[in-house]
Amino acid sequence: MATLPDPSRAGGAMPRHVAIIMDGNGRWAKARRLPRIAGHRQGVEAVRRVARAAREHGVEVLTLYAFSSENWRRPEDEVRDLMGLLRHFIRSELAELASENVRLRVIGDYSVFSPDLVELIDNAIARTAGNDGATLVIALNYGGQAEIVAATRRLAERVRGGVLSPDAIDDALFERELQTHDLPPLDLLIRTSGEQRLSNFLLWQAAYAELLFVDTLWPDFDGESLAAAIETFGRRQRRFGGL
Ligand code: FPP
Repeated sequence: MATLPDPSRAGGAMPRHVAIIMDGNGRWAKARRLPRIAGHRQGVEAVRRVARAAREHGVEVLTLYAFSSENWRRPEDEVRDLMGLLRHFIRSELAELASENVRLRVIGDYSVFSPDLVELIDNAIARTAGNDGATLVIALNYGGQAEIVAATRRLAERVRGGVLSPDAIDDALFERELQTHDLPPLDLLIRTSGEQRLSNFLLWQAAYAELLFVDTLWPDFDGESLAAAIETFGRRQRRFGGL
């Protein structure tokens, strides 16, 4: 992966890699006097819609923040519900991902999930590994700081082992240790629901990404919302530190 996105893609360009912080499920449910799980269920429908729309737009990689390393702080039953939805999503979506030539990837440490879910995720990743149409990346138990710390630790081990000189560590070498190392640079990072924070998502990768905060609650986000976001991206001037 190049350290910087390709400037030639700026100006009416299509983002190759779009990431979304899917926020607002709880507020969507609350506004309808429904339990939070109802919002998450609609959130999954939005995932299906938007993943399909992204492929139709030719977005190569869509990365979705489904469960952050901080989401364990939520009530136990909500965490259980989210795991259940994830299980259901993978079971019900796998055939479509496979037939649509989509590769499923996960970033984050999902090894701590229940063994059946780990197996389900591993199988889905393995079954779609050879697909080269588009990539759907789901961030599970993911935290950007933890990703950077893990990368640092691996490099430090190599320095300690005498196989890496500290002088050889640069952006490109560091990036190779990240879980996104083989994905195109992040072009566009969208957060729904009006919040304007990164919440520990893709901290390194967002260095030169265009940020877009929209008021739409995630369950209401659809193909048109994505098309509008892509259009906004195309109007942005990306200078990557130049003039
Ligand atoms: C934020 O809304 C959303 C989440 C923490 C989870 C996102 C999960 C899904 C959309 C469903 C599972 C995903 C997949 C890929 C199967 P919130 O609950 O923080 O909303 P609030 O801020 O309005 O309370």
